[in-house]
Amino acid sequence: MEEATIFFLLLVSLTQKTYSAEIDIISDSSFLTENDTLVSPARTFELGFFKPGSSENMYVGIWYKKISIKTYVWVANRDYPLTGVSSGHVLRFLNPGNLVLMNSTSNIVWSSKTTSSGNATAQLDNTGNLVIMDGNHMKILWQSFDYPTDTIIPGMKCGEDKLRGIEWHLSSWKSSQDPGTGNFTWSVDTRGYPQFLLRDGLEIKYRQGPWNGERFSGSSWPSNNKYFSYNMVVNETEALISYNLLDSSVLSRSTLNSSGLRERSVWLEDKKKWQVIVTHPGDNCETYKICGAYGSCSNADAQKLCSCLDEKKFEPVNKEGWEKGDWAGGCVRRIPLNCTDGTDGFIKYSNVKLPDTQTSWFNNTMSLRECKAICLKNCSCMAYANTDIRGKGSGCLLWFNELLDIKASSNGGQDIFVRMASSELEKEGGTNIKIVLIGVFSGIFVISLSTWLWYSWRKKHHSLQIKGGSLIGESEREAMELPLFSFSRVAKATAMFSLDNKLGEGGFGPVYKGMLEDGHEIAVKRLSKTSSQGIDEFMNEVICISKLQHRNLVKLLGCSIKGGEKLLIYEYMPNRSLDEFIFDKRQSTCLDWTKRFNIIKGIARGLLYLHQDSRLRIIHRDLKASNILLDLDMNPKISDFGIARSFGGNETQGSTERVVGTYGYMSPEYAIDGLFSIKSDVFSFGVLVLEIVSGKRNRGFVHSEHKNNLIGHAWRLHSEGKSMEVIDSSFAESSNPSEVLRSIEVGLLCVQQSPEDRPNMSSVVFMLGNEGALPKPKQPAFFTEKNLLGADISSASYPTSSSNDLTITELVAR
Ligand SMILES: *[C@@H]1O[C@H](CO)[C@@H](O)[C@H](O)[C@H]1NC(C)=O
Ligand SMILES: *[C@@H]1O[C@H](CO)[C@@H](O)[C@H](O)[C@H]1NC(C)=O
Ligand SMILES: *[C@@H]1O[C@H](CO)[C@@H](O)[C@H](O)[C@H]1NC(C)=O
Ligand SMILES: *[C@@H]1O[C@H](CO)[C@@H](O)[C@H](O)[C@H]1NC(C)=O
Ligand SMILES: *[C@@H]1O[C@H](CO)[C@@H](O)[C@H](O)[C@H]1NC(C)=O
Ligand SMILES: *[C@@H]1O[C@H](CO)[C@@H](O)[C@H](O)[C@H]1NC(C)=O
Ligand SMILES: *[C@@H]1O[C@H](CO)[C@@H](O)[C@H](O)[C@H]1NC(C)=O
Ligand SMILES: *[C@@H]1O[C@H](CO)[C@@H](O)[C@H](O)[C@H]1NC(C)=O
Ligand SMILES: *[C@@H]1O[C@H](CO)[C@@H](O)[C@H](O)[C@H]1NC(C)=O
Repeated sequence: MEEATIFFLLLVSLTQKTYSAEIDIISDSSFLTENDTLVSPARTFELGFFKPGSSENMYVGIWYKKISIKTYVWVANRDYPLTGVSSGHVLRFLNPGNLVLMNSTSNIVWSSKTTSSGNATAQLDNTGNLVIMDGNHMKILWQSFDYPTDTIIPGMKCGEDKLRGIEWHLSSWKSSQDPGTGNFTWSVDTRGYPQFLLRDGLEIKYRQGPWNGERFSGSSWPSNNKYFSYNMVVNETEALISYNLLDSSVLSRSTLNSSGLRERSVWLEDKKKWQVIVTHPGDNCETYKICGAYGSCSNADAQKLCSCLDEKKFEPVNKEGWEKGDWAGGCVRRIPLNCTDGTDGFIKYSNVKLPDTQTSWFNNTMSLRECKAICLKNCSCMAYANTDIRGKGSGCLLWFNELLDIKASSNGGQDIFVRMASSELEKEGGTNIKIVLIGVFSGIFVISLSTWLWYSWRKKHHSLQIKGGSLIGESEREAMELPLFSFSRVAKATAMFSLDNKLGEGGFGPVYKGMLEDGHEIAVKRLSKTSSQGIDEFMNEVICISKLQHRNLVKLLGCSIKGGEKLLIYEYMPNRSLDEFIFDKRQSTCLDWTKRFNIIKGIARGLLYLHQDSRLRIIHRDLKASNILLDLDMNPKISDFGIARSFGGNETQGSTERVVGTYGYMSPEYAIDGLFSIKSDVFSFGVLVLEIVSGKRNRGFVHSEHKNNLIGHAWRLHSEGKSMEVIDSSFAESSNPSEVLRSIEVGLLCVQQSPEDRPNMSSVVFMLGNEGALPKPKQPAFFTEKNLLGADISSASYPTSSSNDLTITELVAR
């Protein structure tokens, strides 16, 4: 080492003394001969004539002045060497502004091909860039950084600027003795989403993953590491990378050497050597397309580099060859896509180096959701991903070919969504969510299971109505697709839940009117924090309602959860709820008999749908007048499914310790024993029919003489053949007596004591819509208020005109 240093010092002193002149500028009056050098101000870089290795040919180039190993970063006349032994070569300005390299016979071997109106100058700056300036305008006419050879140093760019029409790429030296343009190139490919390719001639040897905002996809090098930082711009006009040194005293360079390897190295001054820190292709998995289409390369198992992207859903094209290590044929989907029927979907794969983007398309401003929608529509679109993974992710990248050159990359990979046949999707949907949450505790389990149920259901019906983000977390963003509204958006829509916007107080909390940015009116149910409705009931309601679509069911638009706050967002019903009409003297005149009968039939159809026609059997369990909302045309819509329980298969009844419902509407077996079934809903429906016909509340009503409640009163009048006396005077004139009588009889059939005696909803719908004879109702349950709770609560203690029904949540002591 000492010898080397001494030799170096000797060499430096010799050259300086005997041969060379150092200059800092080339101008009209100052030129460079083969014994001179142009030196940068900080004396880091030097430009001059050199002979590489043992070559006799001479070149003009730039090298590091400071270090002991002659390392060239740029060569001017790489393909036009100065030949022969003769001296007398010169680098000078010729004509105004054209920097030329002349050989001893004054022939031009290389030139900058620039012109200038006056006194141009050439200087080497501290970054190692030879810059030609227009003397008059002080404008850059030319710079060596725009003509890279095989090396990138900090400050240089690589890539393409379409607006300026400049393309920067690296090309290897032919050999260490010959800086001539070799066969290897490193350049950006902008046919699709830009990516860098290492080629040997035209053949691709290695592909760097596309830029994802943080790093090159699949690369373990973050853009900020201890040696250097880099910056990449990818948009419609630019695809450029530039490097910056974090510490200007560190020398760092990136080269494409003559064996076709890209190396990044840093100079270690104490060891006097270049330390290679990254090499590409670095391992077998960096061999372009080694695993073929839909194959994924992993270094985890040296014996088996390639596997199909997903062994369950893909299989090797050439199964025998695959086992022997012939992977080039790649893989195919086990179940082929069938785009024509529009049922394809996507499966997310994580931690992958994104596939070849040669035939891709991108848009940096689109969201992942828009991206998916576009991809779904086009049958040749095979996958989509974010272009930028930072934060929540943004941008859209679509692939229009088989997915090639995928690598499993646990520390530099990212998510990609791959097109799959619909039958493959269902298998997938179940696993993610469940596994995480099972066994935690039942509350959370209910969420995950129901979310999954709902998710699968929506997938199947292709009715994804995506309104917001995710419930569980970023990583599940795509999988969950819950109609979540951000809390702040809802708060804004309701003017911070202002009193002015309050529509009323439901069983579990207040309901507000709101208006979204786009002018859509919504109704927001703000579940009180103290409400007994836990997250399970909440999710139950969200899931149930959004699954069910019927014109007599209120439409749930979404929900919102923040801390302990739970919000349900419904379509807004301008005419609010039925109780505000039928129990109000003035408003009740708005409902003539035709409308009332319509409402009765509508509720019956809605309930029939819940009980029988929907995919899941839903028992409402809290059917009451305030839960029937009215649209502009007074069509009824059933709301408030929060306490409904869904049953799979033929399980139609159950038992609960926790009774949820409203006095006056509850069947005896439910109120007293906690037994619920579709027949307990039928009971509530019967009460509702009697209320609509009479305009009186069952619970508030106490007959002055016989202490009967509304049910008892109607029953008595019916048995006396005076049913028509039940009806509300406000529509008595408009009434159709046979429809009224029919309704009362149906109502009485529904409130019979024994659940078995009560008709089911399909019979109810039939009876209301047809004219045949009806069965005779038996004596109803809950004849009087006293029957309900026993002697300790007198019927008189019930308010008679309260607009707030008390919803009880616990009746049975535990
Ligand atoms: C450069 O130096 C060599 C001696 O090594 C000398 O022969 C030659 O004339 C010099 N050239 C110029 C242009 O000074
Ligand atoms: C100078 O370059 C010209 C053109 O390339 C060539 O013909 C000539 O032989 C060269 N002169 C010497 C001395 O090499
Ligand atoms: C050209 O510029 C150089 C360097 O700035 C200066 O020394 C020289 O005098 C200038 N010549 C003319 C003709 O302006
Ligand atoms: C470059 O490629 C050509 C054509 O394939 C070949 O003849 C030549 O030897 C290659 N050069 C080097 C330096 O590998
Ligand atoms: C591309 O990015 C560059 C650098 O950020 C910017 O100057 C240019 O305007 C962008 N072009 C487009 C079309 O967005
Ligand atoms: C190119 O770089 C690789 C990896 O560092 C090295 O093994 C090889 O010798 C280099 N080739 C040449 C010609 O320098
Ligand atoms: C694709 O779907 C259509 C419509 O459902 C069906 O007719 C056709 O048979 C399906 N093709 C395949 C290959 O599954
Ligand atoms: C990218 O997407 C945005 C938002 O969808 C759209 O406005 C824009 O026109 C798109 N740009 C291109 C080039 O398609
Ligand atoms: C699908 O996308 C490809 C590539 O962008 C395009 O050429 C083709 O026309 C598209 N097909 C349809 C049906 O839009």
